Amino acid sequence: MPLIRFHIITVLSLLPFILGVSMAPKALAHAGAMGIVKERMDKFEASEKATKKIKQAVSRGDTLVVVTEAGKLASWASEMAAYFPKNSNQSPSEAKEDVWLRWDDFLIAIQSFEDSASTLVDVASSGDSGAIGQAFKDVTQSCKSCHREFRED
Ligand code: HEC
Repeated sequence: MPLIRFHIITVLSLLPFILGVSMAPKALAHAGAMGIVKERMDKFEASEKATKKIKQAVSRGDTLVVVTEAGKLASWASEMAAYFPKNSNQSPSEAKEDVWLRWDDFLIAIQSFEDSASTLVDVASSGDSGAIGQAFKDVTQSCKSCHREFRED
């Protein structure tokens, strides 16, 4: 039965790939992403990590980490537009076509993200936990509101 043997060999040789993929759904989301799409996905993944670090740092009152990580977000905001050149919506990008159709609104969303991250940097060292909590909330709101308008679910 050479045909069956062939199938078994095929399945066996694919097994590491199948297992690898099922164990790494995050990596799968990026599979095939190249060039600028991959670069901005990596930047957004890094923002996600920074946001988690800020959240923990806010709850333990660690000003230095809040300032550092919020500074990274503000700096990413200042370069984000350059990561969305025209005709860069190839698979597996989750950017909506609206990014380019409503470019001015997209820039406003970026600006509001940059403003909120800079405010968090400024407020972080105040020691006013209410103001810090509010500034952090404003940052996460600006992430969400941009995703609602400009990212596929
Ligand atoms: C001005 C708009 C905007 C802001 C602000 C924004 N995002 Fe996004 N985000 C996007 C778009 C558009 C994509 C889809 C990019 C793509 O797939 O090409 C995205 C994708 C992502 C992804 C998925 C990346 C991947 O691997 O596919 C994560 C995670 C993410 N953003 C987190 C955040 C976090 C956290 C913040 C705030 C700290 C944030 N984003 C702020 C527009 C924004």
